[in-house]
Amino acid sequence: MTQALLTPDAKPSNAEPKKVFVKTYGCQMNVYDSERMGDALTRDGYQTVDSVEAADLVLINTCHIREKAAEKVYSQLGRLAKLKKQRNADGGDLMVAVAGCVAQAEGSEIIRRAPVVDVVIGPQTYHLLPEALAKARRGERVVETDFPAEDKFDGLPVAPEKSIRARGVAAFLTVQEGCDKFCTFCVVPYTRGSEVSRPVDRILLEAERLAAAGVREITLLGQNVNAWHGKGADGREWGLGELLRRLATIDGIDRLRYTTSHPRDMDDALIAAHGDLPELMPYLHLPVQSGSDRILKAMNRRHTGADYRRLVDRIRAARPDIALSGDFIVGFPGETDADFEDTMQLIRDVRYAAAFSFKYSIRPGTPGAGMDNQVDEAVKTERLLRLQELLSQQTREFGQQCVGKTVELLLEKPGRNTDQIVGRSPWLQPVIVDAKLGKIGDIVKVRITQPGTSSLFAEPVE
Ligand code: 5AD
Ligand code: SF4
Repeated sequence: MTQALLTPDAKPSNAEPKKVFVKTYGCQMNVYDSERMGDALTRDGYQTVDSVEAADLVLINTCHIREKAAEKVYSQLGRLAKLKKQRNADGGDLMVAVAGCVAQAEGSEIIRRAPVVDVVIGPQTYHLLPEALAKARRGERVVETDFPAEDKFDGLPVAPEKSIRARGVAAFLTVQEGCDKFCTFCVVPYTRGSEVSRPVDRILLEAERLAAAGVREITLLGQNVNAWHGKGADGREWGLGELLRRLATIDGIDRLRYTTSHPRDMDDALIAAHGDLPELMPYLHLPVQSGSDRILKAMNRRHTGADYRRLVDRIRAARPDIALSGDFIVGFPGETDADFEDTMQLIRDVRYAAAFSFKYSIRPGTPGAGMDNQVDEAVKTERLLRLQELLSQQTREFGQQCVGKTVELLLEKPGRNTDQIVGRSPWLQPVIVDAKLGKIGDIVKVRITQPGTSSLFAEPVE
């Protein structure tokens, strides 16, 4: 069958469109990549569906940051193999593609262990996906996990002008990929490769398209987003601060955010942007991982607890109402009770509005995996509980402090009750208000009345 190789224009008019089901795991970067792959497949004649049963192609976009990620993918592939067998018995077929960081890390091992898979494609080669699927339809098994020199985004369509209903009023835009930091616990430098910045003109083009489609808030994405740099329209070398300034001038883009940042790449221009760019929302995800200098050194974080505290002071001096969130790892090899207490103290000193915390777990191939002073599982569990208790308390306190404040909400989606609508505060909290207050895409002024478990409530202000 050649039908599926054809572009939509060349497809016979009576042909059923092929159907793809995309399942995404992991970070916002994966969500963004899945959308771009979906766009590329739509151009290739596919329609997206929301169940495996309805699909001709299942695309799994995997994440490797969590424990036993690869094993979970293999058991999922086992279930798909059964489904494929059933389809074949009924005279049909099912294609399976594995993308993302597990694809990058495992490569051809995936096809060896799970012959149901037709295509294995790493995050750097998504632009080759339609071509890889075409090869697979001719009976080849395809593994694309090289790190090509060209920008993968050159081959992928920029965000098309989809309706707001399809895309939402708050969108992600990838500006940077990869990481050169080599924290000793982390797989990202191996699965995503070294730091690459997307050029300014491509970013502006995509941001303008998003604005034209009705997007009002853009979150810039990158594994090390604040390492982004590029040649600006003025011929000078820009950092993320300058890029944000330029993006803020786009008509319709009222809110900007970025994630995830490394403390070492917070430069003066970026901190200054937090001080004087009203479009830049007062919320920053700035992982520290540990509060112990000994552990930070073993993690190869290349900053101390004091460096981080100083940095936070400078950011807060520029933007006093900024809310911080962080990532924390407990039980990194060699972590003693005293090291853990240093982390607890750093959290007390900094005060976080939100946080993500994890027990250290071994990632094969990283330096941490070879360290011989691994921490006992029970100790990790106990430390994580204590840490999370402290962080949850800080999140609750932050919610309490918001009560009585007048804030602007970007209305994003209908509420669970039809007479409610959900907006997002500048500090990323979901806030539930009366649906009569406005429509999706409006920015409205409200007063926070009450903190809830995962969202806040607010009333209109005259
Ligand atoms: N063990 C536990 N947590 C990890 N993270 C990354 N690698 C590991 C690991 N091996 C956490 C870090 C990172 C977040 C995305 O995931 O805190 O910032
Ligand atoms: Fe991983 Fe560290 Fe790079 Fe973050 S900075 S992606 S934790 S290596």
